[in-house]
Amino acid sequence: MTSEQKLALVTGGSRGIGFGIAKALADAGYRVILIARNEERLREAAAALGRSVSWRCADVGSRQDVQKALARLDRIDVLVNAAGFIRPVSLGIAGDEAEQSWDAVIAGNLKGSFLMAHAAASVLRSPGGRIINISSIGAQTGGSRPGGLAYAAAKSGLHGLTFALARELAPRGITANVIAPGFIAGTGFTGAWPEDRVSGIVAETPLGRVGTPADIAGAVLWLTSDAGAFVTGAIIPVNGGWRIG
Ligand SMILES: NC(=O)c1ccc[n+]([C@@H]2O[C@H](COP(=O)([O-])OP(=O)(O)OC[C@H]3O[C@@H](n4cnc5c(N)ncnc54)[C@H](OP(=O)(O)O)[C@@H]3O)[C@@H](O)[C@H]2O)c1
Repeated sequence: MTSEQKLALVTGGSRGIGFGIAKALADAGYRVILIARNEERLREAAAALGRSVSWRCADVGSRQDVQKALARLDRIDVLVNAAGFIRPVSLGIAGDEAEQSWDAVIAGNLKGSFLMAHAAASVLRSPGGRIINISSIGAQTGGSRPGGLAYAAAKSGLHGLTFALARELAPRGITANVIAPGFIAGTGFTGAWPEDRVSGIVAETPLGRVGTPADIAGAVLWLTSDAGAFVTGAIIPVNGGWRIG
């Protein structure tokens, strides 16, 4: 690492979309720290991405974990909150189970992004720092099937969180934006989706293909570049036109 090298933190960077974003940032010259829970996957991902990439183990829904992961960092240029997961919560699920799943989904997808932003804020580069939260098309559609009560609520909550972060950080010249992916193949999220469900989505997608982690990384690179400097508090859909409007 050189003293000029910028630092990016990518939660959920051990696989899927986060991994694609970490790769793009490392290729663009960033020093990258991956943050996730599974140590073995983190180690493998960092090794695959090269010497400018390291990792720290943390559950982003835990304040203690987050504080430990960010300890001793004195300047962060880019924070990407890509950690997240879906667990079905629908009205048909019994109360106990529904509440537990609700709490877990909100913690992993929404509270985690708040805790990371809160812990990083004082050392985000000013001016010029960037926060990029990864939400979902489900924030606006409620999800493509029943079971999205907690996930859609968490992801649309992330939009509100981002708007408020954008206002609070603007005086310091720091931007905060959301990227809302559509269907992204090659991820832990969607890897097991049946072929007919995937082909149905492709048929509804004007650009006629599935998305890839590299498609999301492209939007991240733009937001982190000088070309994205005047964009803040924006929701950027990257979905091939799946839900235009
Ligand atoms: N794939 C899609 O089509 C799609 C569409 C819309 C939105 N998204 C969003 O994109 C983001 C990435 O999804 P993906 O599809 O790339 O999923 P993925 O392949 O399953 O990767 C999820 C990543 O998040 C980490 N993670 C999950 N919960 C965490 C927690 N509590 N603390 C720390 N790390 C955690 C996972 O590592 P550990 O399990 O080791 O912690 C993993 O690195 C998510 O926020 C998801 O909601 C995905």
